[in-house]
Amino acid sequence: MTVKEIFDLAIQTGIKNDPRGADEIKRLLEESKKDFDDLSKSEKEEFDQQKLTNPYSDSRFLCGDQRKKVKRVLVGIDIGTEEVLLARELERMGKPIDLIIAHHPEGRALADLHEVMDLQTSVLSRAGIPENIAEGIIREQLEDVSRKISPANHYKSVMAAELLGVSMINIHTPADNCVWRFVDNLLEKKNPRKISDIINVLKTIPEYKEAVMLGSGPKIFSGNEKNRCGKIVVSGMTGGTHGKGSEKIYERMGHYGIGTVIAMHVGEEDRNEAIKHYVNIVVAGHIASDSLGLNIILDSLEKKGIEIVACSGFIRNSRAK
Ligand SMILES: [Fe+2]
Ligand SMILES: [Fe+2]
Repeated sequence: MTVKEIFDLAIQTGIKNDPRGADEIKRLLEESKKDFDDLSKSEKEEFDQQKLTNPYSDSRFLCGDQRKKVKRVLVGIDIGTEEVLLARELERMGKPIDLIIAHHPEGRALADLHEVMDLQTSVLSRAGIPENIAEGIIREQLEDVSRKISPANHYKSVMAAELLGVSMINIHTPADNCVWRFVDNLLEKKNPRKISDIINVLKTIPEYKEAVMLGSGPKIFSGNEKNRCGKIVVSGMTGGTHGKGSEKIYERMGHYGIGTVIAMHVGEEDRNEAIKHYVNIVVAGHIASDSLGLNIILDSLEKKGIEIVACSGFIRNSRAK
């Protein structure tokens, strides 16, 4: 497979597992095309043309050669300059790396991270929160995130990869969509009654089991293990800032009949608000959840004979066999 084929496969897998559904994604891409067509010549120059084919602003081809054939990839949750140097060091040890795959956004993908957050509106409205309320709360948070990431040094590791001639892509929301669907489907099938049942279901997933051994397994952040789950929503898994949607949502969740939230991670304000409104929170674990999402995509690469080298916390578990 080439770098481009790998990236395209990741995007398609993300669309297949997207909470909004493939038809809605098609509509959004058509909207982008219409926006582009309506622009003036100078505005067209500034338009990010990736938006015409890729609905995930936080996932991009970052640098290198898109036509390069790939036999071995280095995959990490966060790719900094040190991981780029690691790729070169592995080559020195006889394990050349043809492509680095980062999960968390770098470069332009980081600068545009907030643009995927509207996806969270769909996750919440599927769970019964009126669209206008979910949209209003998420939009406020989206603007806040946009301001917070604006001063970052977005291109640090991408420049390192360019200097050393290493190709690099990042796969963020497509992978998070995969973990969202996987966990959502499993919990629906198992229909847990108590919070302890949710923890036990999560621990049957190898990535979470491994995280338990590493000291970062699933944890209850609000409620206790004997609590009834009520209606479960996997709301903190995808849409840019998993788990940190907005603490304002918990009051509404309580009103609209949501009993338990499953998230990758949450902040203290989320925890306090959830406790106040009797909403349970189970934190599945950040890095294990990110790993599970990536693994679902990477299995397709492994099936094509590509070797996967894990770094930067990534827990590789293959379901390819
Ligand atoms: Fe993620
Ligand atoms: Fe993450």
